[in-house]
Amino acid sequence: MCGIIGYKGQRNASEVVLNGLKALEYRGYDSWGIASLSSELDVVKDIGKIGKWMIEDIDLSKSSLAIGHTRWATHGGVTTENAHPHYSLDKRFAIVQNGIVENYQDLKKELVQKGYNFKSETDTEVIAYIIQEELKDKELIEGFRSAFSRLKGRNAVVLIDSVSGKIIGARNGSPLILGVGDGEYILASDASPIVKYTKDVVFMQDNDVVVLNDSYHIINSVTGEEIDREVSHVSWDIKQAQKGDYPHFMIKEIMEQRTTVADSIAQEKDAVMEIANALNGAFGTYAVGCGTAAKVCLAATYAFSSITHKHINFSLGSEFPSYHHFLTDKSLLLVVSQSGETADTLEAIEVMKKRNGKVVSLVNVMGSSIMRQSDYALLNNVGPEKSVCSTKATTAQLAQCILLAYAAADKYDEGMNLLKDASNKLNLMLNDQFCNSIKKLACKIVDWESMYVLGRGLNYSIALEASIKIQEVSYIHAEGFAGGELKHGPIALIDKGTPCIVFVANDDVKEEILGNAMEVKARGGYIIGVSPEDNSIFDFWIKVPDVGDASPIVNIVPIQLLAYYLAVEKGCDVDMPRNLAKSVTVK
Ligand code: M6R
Repeated sequence: MCGIIGYKGQRNASEVVLNGLKALEYRGYDSWGIASLSSELDVVKDIGKIGKWMIEDIDLSKSSLAIGHTRWATHGGVTTENAHPHYSLDKRFAIVQNGIVENYQDLKKELVQKGYNFKSETDTEVIAYIIQEELKDKELIEGFRSAFSRLKGRNAVVLIDSVSGKIIGARNGSPLILGVGDGEYILASDASPIVKYTKDVVFMQDNDVVVLNDSYHIINSVTGEEIDREVSHVSWDIKQAQKGDYPHFMIKEIMEQRTTVADSIAQEKDAVMEIANALNGAFGTYAVGCGTAAKVCLAATYAFSSITHKHINFSLGSEFPSYHHFLTDKSLLLVVSQSGETADTLEAIEVMKKRNGKVVSLVNVMGSSIMRQSDYALLNNVGPEKSVCSTKATTAQLAQCILLAYAAADKYDEGMNLLKDASNKLNLMLNDQFCNSIKKLACKIVDWESMYVLGRGLNYSIALEASIKIQEVSYIHAEGFAGGELKHGPIALIDKGTPCIVFVANDDVKEEILGNAMEVKARGGYIIGVSPEDNSIFDFWIKVPDVGDASPIVNIVPIQLLAYYLAVEKGCDVDMPRNLAKSVTVK
């Protein structure tokens, strides 16, 4: 949800910021803007994506400091006025923001009474004027701190000041990372625009304010105390954050699953066992995530039931606060999140922490808020996932949940062998012939307005996940159901030829799900069977390897491919689907 960036150093700051915004664009792409300080503070902004803009086309002079923003609209429509950066009224400074100021209406009322005239509908403009008010009787940093402390909600703000030539950044709930280069500093919502210049970063923490001048210093926004934060080294490579020869990040990331499942389980055994023991020792475990990560959580409940014989509960991140009555200091939250910044998931952690329960997280982004707030964390280890549509992080998280279920059942080695075998077989499955067959299927069904997906047991969650994949990138209406639920209503939707994907693993619900497929076929549905074995019920067979309990991993991949080819066939913007953003940092 919005990407923010600030740069101070010897390079052309506007160019660094422009390129940085391109790297951050997956976080939001409704509009963009840059503020740069040369002889005066200039702001350039526009609606739409920044992708095609070149520095030569942007009317900004060379400078050594600039800030930028790429927006996912929350307060106010997609207009140039609402695009960031927003100037202070006196144009002394400009700011960009990622987050939501929950008390912006109260603050705005106060400012209007004081005579401030608003040009946009954003909560960001409120921040600019609150800071301006504070600067009436305070120095810049003190005024900024004081204004920042008045903001409610999860926010990260970066300010560029024309008087002092400083850049100031602060975070409270929304991510902000400082890249520490040789005489240059770059602040950004994530590491993707930073790694080109430096891999040394400081993961800023809540209430940290960083001031960039000839060097940097961090202070606490409330007390003003100096803080010494550790400089970490990020291992992500710039190439991992680029498309290379692939036309889209989504297909690149799907193909990377040839190796990422193996990478995800390459963890210290002790770390896995420590988490497994925490899971075994907990009384009341909740697997919590949002969107695709939630589907992984649902799969985890089945995996723990069948492999560990342990009941764990499932909740969507946004619904978890309603369970607070049941939480104690023995409760445990198993959190799944690619970005590690999802607001609804973070709120679930806050709720758990209030009851002194423990938090285990499976996250992809090192240093993310969720990782830092966890008692135990496993990194997904798949490198940056840039396509809004999650693919390689999903299979990594599924593999980690299955490994944890085996480890908690004291069968760590068995789990490792199973997952290594699944990874090898997935690698062999993802060949050109396989991809071409899915592409042909996509061409055949692309004109259907609706499609359905069925699964049972461990693969029920994969049916739900498959439907998200198709919806979000191809905009085709797709719905996932538990096979047994069909006859209770959804079967009325089946018409002659309606595409229906059915996951048929070699497991104890195989006969039942085949029976459900038969019910659809009897009503004229077109059955796409995802299974290790062909069956006369299938009109189209997607052959996947037989990998036992790891079937969700190999089953979802062909549907990721199908969603991709459907989207390409329809001419959709695959990596940046309409209305979405990669990292959902608002509730
Ligand atoms: O970063 P997270 O894993 O916490 O994100 C959760 C969801 O927003 C995310 O999985 C979303 O559903 C994806 N766009 C799905 O592909």
